[in-house]
Amino acid sequence: MFEINPRFKQQNATLEAELSTYVTQNFSAWKLGLPFDLNLSHPKQMPAVIAVGGGKGGVGKSIVSANLGANLAQFGYRVLIVDLDLGCSNLHSHFGVAMPKKSLADFLLTKTAHFRDIMLPAPVQGVAFVAGGREEIWGDFLENPATDLQVLWDALVASRQQYKVDIIVLDLGAGTHRYTMDFFSCAHLGIVTCLPEPTSIENAYVFFKMALWKLIDNMGRRLGQTEIAQDIKAALANMAGGSLTSGYASCFRQLQLSYPGFIQELQKTIQARTVGIMINQARDQADIDLGTSMEHICQKYFGLPTRYVGYLNYDESVLKSLKNRRLLVSDFPHSMISKRLSIAAAQSLKILGMQRRS
Ligand SMILES: Nc1ncnc2c1ncn2[C@@H]1O[C@H](COP(=O)(O)OP(=O)(O)OP(=O)(O)O)[C@@H](O)[C@H]1O
Ligand SMILES: [Mg+2]
Repeated sequence: MFEINPRFKQQNATLEAELSTYVTQNFSAWKLGLPFDLNLSHPKQMPAVIAVGGGKGGVGKSIVSANLGANLAQFGYRVLIVDLDLGCSNLHSHFGVAMPKKSLADFLLTKTAHFRDIMLPAPVQGVAFVAGGREEIWGDFLENPATDLQVLWDALVASRQQYKVDIIVLDLGAGTHRYTMDFFSCAHLGIVTCLPEPTSIENAYVFFKMALWKLIDNMGRRLGQTEIAQDIKAALANMAGGSLTSGYASCFRQLQLSYPGFIQELQKTIQARTVGIMINQARDQADIDLGTSMEHICQKYFGLPTRYVGYLNYDESVLKSLKNRRLLVSDFPHSMISKRLSIAAAQSLKILGMQRRS
């Protein structure tokens, strides 16, 4: 059963201030969204990062983020969920609270708050969350390519040592905006949420492609070989046929002959991450099986290590819990969708190579 977080009512109370001096030297070389060498063999250095995206709006990213996070806390982990749907934030509503006064905008834009001040207790034990902030504050932030999100990434990484955060869940915005793909490409597990309908599936494939493009760009910058990155993207875009059995994966094998060093490094980076697929609002077996087909295509065509994390059934309790202003898994713990969310959380842990603690 989900226990109510006793700290929940003290919204302004800071979480444990275990302010050990954190040395970010391992990460200082990382530029915006460029932690190329994520290494899960060093779990003490940073939290495991799960990013929840999906090419389309309204596919269930926030429901998955909030409730998957709550389930991971049930398994004994300290979880931080961050609303990165900048300018359209509503993660707080999934916890049944109004937009908090302190938000990411205070930390990142106006710089009037410390990161610990924007980590607010969620209504479930073991979960803290960061709200996005009101849309008018963000203004033209999203259009400004110079905006440096490195400071946020560093705070997320440091939360392992400073606040003992084990797992971070990033609730991304719809679409394939630059900062969305930056954070998706940073994650150990990037989950693409998809509805079993043509437009959503199409957008999910665009999302996979953009994720791959982002990794190639990042690699180009890391190696100081941005021209090679452009060549590789052009070759992939022009590849003949593009059948599902050949795809980018086989094109990479050919490109290896021309750019052996680059492709080798790129493959290492790609293999260090997992792309997860979640089908939401499944109504029948065909909808459920869609996840298996997408997993297969994503592996074969895009060459990305892909795992079907699970599906969520269409469930009236989603809307009811939102209207009740309560977190879905707390409000309807015995519903089918809560069971599916628990299974997806267990699967996510498995993918991350982590064990259940409780
Ligand atoms: N499994 C489900 N069963 C029934 N309704 C659902 C389900 N999943 C999502 N919904 C409906 O879809 C709406 C959108 O869900 P959610 O806010 O999680 O999507 P999102 O992808 O985060 O959207 P946005 O792109 O606006 O951030 C919910 O408010 C709910 O009404
Ligand atoms: Mg959302």
